[in-house]
Amino acid sequence: MKAIAGHDISYSYASPGSIELSLTGVSIEVSSGELIAILGHNGSGKSTLVKHFNALLPLQKGELAVAGMDAKDPSLLWELRRKCGMVFQNPDNQFVSSIVDEDIAFGLENYDTPAERIPRKVEEALESVGMPGAGKRSTHMLSGGQKQRIALAGVLAVDADIIIFDEATSMLDPPGKREVMEAVRRLHIREHKTVIMISHDMEDAVFADRVCVMADGKILAAGTPREILTDRSLLASAGLTPPLSVQIYYDLCEAGVELCRCPLTEEELVEELCRLY
Ligand SMILES: Nc1ncnc2c1ncn2[C@@H]1O[C@H](COP(=O)(O)OP(=O)(O)O)[C@@H](O)[C@H]1O
Ligand SMILES: [Mg+2]
Repeated sequence: MKAIAGHDISYSYASPGSIELSLTGVSIEVSSGELIAILGHNGSGKSTLVKHFNALLPLQKGELAVAGMDAKDPSLLWELRRKCGMVFQNPDNQFVSSIVDEDIAFGLENYDTPAERIPRKVEEALESVGMPGAGKRSTHMLSGGQKQRIALAGVLAVDADIIIFDEATSMLDPPGKREVMEAVRRLHIREHKTVIMISHDMEDAVFADRVCVMADGKILAAGTPREILTDRSLLASAGLTPPLSVQIYYDLCEAGVELCRCPLTEEELVEELCRLY
């Protein structure tokens, strides 16, 4: 079963019949357990697309199944939101309680989890994000990276299988960003969660299984990180710049220095440079 199967999705914020579309006939499939990165400049429709996945926006046109559930069926709304959770951009807007365990428990209570099972579920979710024993901490006292990991724990506690990160690291400092990215990769690898990661940082897409590029409410291209991130003209047409190591590769080419392959990461760049001598 596909985690996400979307076909010909269009959306207008103005009105369903309007010609002013924020999404134009987008088709996208995400396999169970896949880590997919969605790249695109501001306003390209990334958030509008993924808000359909957990029914934050109603389907105006097209077909969409999330974890096998028809997004048009109102009776499945809550189950769909439970299976497909979202971590948003602003770490400070995601809490309903100022105490970590109460915040995570809130989601569980909403899904009628028996009270006696809640403390264990909360602790398991905290362990999954690398913050065991943090339940009694005040959410105000956490770093940005820790706040995003608590938001993620809230989603995991209600047994989400599909997790969407909508620019969830863009407001974090580099260490915070690193800790959230590590938690994401751990979840993907160890717990086989389906991850949909929206970012405008190219470096985040390097470790994805697949990368989608959006522009003007459409998907311009999809492929492996290597296919997409080394395609300078594709990225330029979407208003994006390639990862630093790719830029250096092309700069070196223009200066007459040819590397064996185009490096995607700093480590690969170093390897390729060492090979020259
Ligand atoms: N709540 C809204 N009301 C009206 N227009 C919106 C709203 N949210 C987004 N848009 C418009 O929809 C388009 C896509 O926006 P969005 O999905 O937020 O892009 P991204 O997440 O890629 O930055 C943009 O033109 C944006 O201005
Ligand atoms: Mg957005």
